[in-house]
Amino acid sequence: MANTAVTYMGLQLANPIIVSSSSLTQDVDGVVKLADAGAGAVVLKSLFEEQIEYDTGQAADDVDFGSHPEAADYITEMGKHLGPAGYLDLIKEARDSVDIPVIASVNCTSPRWWLTYGRQIEQAGADGLELNIAIMPQVDDDPRDLERRYVRIVRDVRAETDLPLAVKIGPVFTNTGQMASALADAGADAIVLFNRFYQLDIDTARAQISPGVQFSASEEIAIPLRWVSLLANAIDCDIAASTGVHTGDDAVKMLLAGANAVQVCTTVYRNGPEQIARIVAEISHWMDAHDHAEIDGFRGALSQSQSKAPERYERLQYIKALTGRS
Ligand SMILES: Cc1cc2nc3c(=O)[nH]c(=O)nc-3n(C[C@H](O)[C@H](O)[C@H](O)COP(=O)(O)O)c2cc1C
Repeated sequence: MANTAVTYMGLQLANPIIVSSSSLTQDVDGVVKLADAGAGAVVLKSLFEEQIEYDTGQAADDVDFGSHPEAADYITEMGKHLGPAGYLDLIKEARDSVDIPVIASVNCTSPRWWLTYGRQIEQAGADGLELNIAIMPQVDDDPRDLERRYVRIVRDVRAETDLPLAVKIGPVFTNTGQMASALADAGADAIVLFNRFYQLDIDTARAQISPGVQFSASEEIAIPLRWVSLLANAIDCDIAASTGVHTGDDAVKMLLAGANAVQVCTTVYRNGPEQIARIVAEISHWMDAHDHAEIDGFRGALSQSQSKAPERYERLQYIKALTGRS
């Protein structure tokens, strides 16, 4: 019988499937259901920086939740009854209710609140912290300034806590690999590749902006898969894959590419918590069929760093596929 245990940013997980930050993990009942269903760990719903600022009176009156679209979800769904103090209670209760690691999540664009709140997250018993850093660039922002802001947040948070620290980023940087590497050097123990931001759509019948599709499609696995395979063993921290992992086969791909853990969200919304056990069973069957007793026996086998043809990972366009000629 295959052993699916992994280590992720120093945490021991019975399997690599982590339920990612979402409304699935916004209350203790949800967390208990996911743990009972066999999740290796959970990341709690993000607490939004705007919410902390609001509660501590640091926010401007016209705080713009639009810059963090997921904040709207937080404020409408969870913020009604759960502020920063409630979030600490959620951490405590979740920690006391399940045996799997419970990772807190904060969505932030600056580190300034961290001194007061960060320690409390640690004291509440979180096993780790995921920083969901989402800065919407404005046209006149200098990209280097934005990148330095990401690094500064991680460095400042790292200075204030010894908790295992993951940083969840989006996929769009001029050099995503360099960004991930800089975040690892700033003290991140893991990078989550990638967040899937709130999507914008246009309702043509009403000629107005509308929310886009909330859930990922299977094809969306391609971008994180590429970056996991490029960055495994190339940056100085663990990697969790996120976006488009819907099946056990998808999870195996991410592990072969070099992920230490795999986050799932859409597939659990769609198929219920039972999907977690199905994914773990599929990983286990694949391991048995390929004679792997441990995940570390094959993890990263198809990463660029272990490839005999590393240049193949860097081709952005395949001549053969595009022209039909080799
Ligand atoms: C309803 C909903 C709420 C979410 N809220 C958060 C959040 O608070 N913090 C966060 O980091 N990600 C949030 N996400 C993003 C998910 O954690 C995940 O990164 C994304 O859905 C891609 O993974 P998937 O393809 O497995 O769904 C949310 C996603 C959904 C669908």
